Amino acid sequence: MKKDFFSERFPKGWFGVLFSSELAAGEIKSFKYFNRDYVAFRGENQEVAILDAHCPHLGAHLGGGSCVGNTIRCPFHGWQFDQEGKCTAIPYSERIPPKAKEGALKWHHVRELNQMIHLWFDPEGGEPEWEVPRSAEMSGEEGWTRWYFKRWRIKTQGKEIIENLVDTPHFAIVHQSPIDKITVEYDRHIARQISLIGQHPTLGSQLETVATYFGPGVMHVEMQGTHESRQVNFHTPVDHESLDLCYGLKLRHDHAIADIDAIAEEYAGFAHKAFYEDVEIWENKVYRESPLLCQADGQLFELRKWYRQFFVDAPPQANIA
Ligand code: FES
Ligand SMILES: [Fe+2]
Repeated sequence: MKKDFFSERFPKGWFGVLFSSELAAGEIKSFKYFNRDYVAFRGENQEVAILDAHCPHLGAHLGGGSCVGNTIRCPFHGWQFDQEGKCTAIPYSERIPPKAKEGALKWHHVRELNQMIHLWFDPEGGEPEWEVPRSAEMSGEEGWTRWYFKRWRIKTQGKEIIENLVDTPHFAIVHQSPIDKITVEYDRHIARQISLIGQHPTLGSQLETVATYFGPGVMHVEMQGTHESRQVNFHTPVDHESLDLCYGLKLRHDHAIADIDAIAEEYAGFAHKAFYEDVEIWENKVYRESPLLCQADGQLFELRKWYRQFFVDAPPQANIA
């Protein structure tokens, strides 16, 4: 892979890691993001904790352990850690070393909202700098279906995915749905695209969409088409070569429609397919730092400038191409 500014750095921000339905109380999930190993567990208090995956004792992976009350128990010697990574019990020792009691295991900032679990990542270890907004429609409010979601592990980087926000011409070619009108606005960590998409072959006529990035990895979409929907796209780097791309959809549930779940299933299938049309391009393209653009291409450099703010070592504004 050719090196460019973004290729060996991870951005800071909130990243989606799981849908809430994927982690029941007492359950543990392991994942690798940002080249690091994490474990997530939900205690009997229903709170989700995300900790570093390797035990500070002798390094076992806690993902193979068990959830006990509001703690995770290591599968190797049974040390237990609470939701802040503090050791609360060692089955064969009355004394817990002070260092272990204070929290030898690193915990991470988590927000569970909109029926999703978000992890804050900052390569420098900083505190969260903004919040992903809570949405009543996405949070399981009456009148909306559950999330229909799909996750792909793909060989690309976040820099490719965010560029979709300004790439108007590809809609007609890749998705057979030309964009009639589009505006993109930026406000600190927020980038918002408001668009009117012409007839889409499967999703309906005249789609009005508002697509908003809250930081570099989480995008919310409000779409009015044949059905009103809420969508989420999140992409979370696994390492510098690949990422998990997750796409979720909810439909407004009109009680007059008896089989809304079947419709949602079908609609989600169409949307997933439309989304996958981009994936095939992303997996096989190269990144052009200095692309050859024409006048009618979107405002790519504004978007790249916005994206650079999430990288701690971005050069001063004046030097940004
Ligand atoms: S390695 Fe985890 S308790 Fe020993
Ligand atoms: Fe696309």
